[in-house]
Amino acid sequence: MAALIQEVSLAARRTFANGLKDPAFQENFNELVKLMNRVRGRDVNFNPSLTQRNLGQAGERAPVTYIHLFEDQYYSMGIFVLRENARIPLHDHPDMYGLIKVIHGNISVKSFDHVIHPSGDDLSSSSSMSTATTKNSTSGKSNSVFDVPFKKFCSDSMKGPRPFLEVPHREASVNDDCCILTPNKGNIHEVRPSGGPAAFLDILAPPYDMETADRRCFYYEKVNLKACSSTSAFLEKYPNKKLQWLVQVQQPSDFWCDEAKYEGPELP
Ligand SMILES: [Fe+2]
Repeated sequence: MAALIQEVSLAARRTFANGLKDPAFQENFNELVKLMNRVRGRDVNFNPSLTQRNLGQAGERAPVTYIHLFEDQYYSMGIFVLRENARIPLHDHPDMYGLIKVIHGNISVKSFDHVIHPSGDDLSSSSSMSTATTKNSTSGKSNSVFDVPFKKFCSDSMKGPRPFLEVPHREASVNDDCCILTPNKGNIHEVRPSGGPAAFLDILAPPYDMETADRRCFYYEKVNLKACSSTSAFLEKYPNKKLQWLVQVQQPSDFWCDEAKYEGPELP
């Protein structure tokens, strides 16, 4: 009989190998989520002493340890071990799905949704900044959702601020269901341990691909653009949501990873 983590891996392959257009995608995804929700530290032979790991000589410990479990072209599986006060800073998962299951301690997740215009345009994607348009309901004319000075401000920088919708902050522990992100729901997030060190199992599909421009990981920071008139136009469209502008930044200097070996059941 397969170990739970082997079942999870097989379910991830069933879900993602056939592409999102597979009629069984949602059913397979739901099954994967159910299996993920059952995962505990013992299922991956997680050693809690890793949360206290001392790298000795160099004098400086990495704030985060990554344990690689599996990766192919369809999905990756790994464990992130966060020391107390560490963080995985705000980052994205371009066009990817993700599942996070806490296996030790508690985590706090702050995340953001993409802003999808009723026309279907993804206003949070980097390419939308110069092309996004919206219909004027009275005249029927097509108008830019961004005012001219703001568009210029954005076009002055490839990494100009982009609008996102803040998702209510979530706390998760070992007994909670996994956190899910999709290409436009909760796709940008920051993860912190809460009340002590923590660890979580992470599935990403498809995996990051640092060799291509499409699926590299980018880091973000909040920027305050309250003064911009475009912001108020957006807020009218999303009265119950909190709009937040984010800008790409370099990898923050307080975040880096070392690695530890996976000691759990072999993965198919
Ligand atoms: Fe992430």
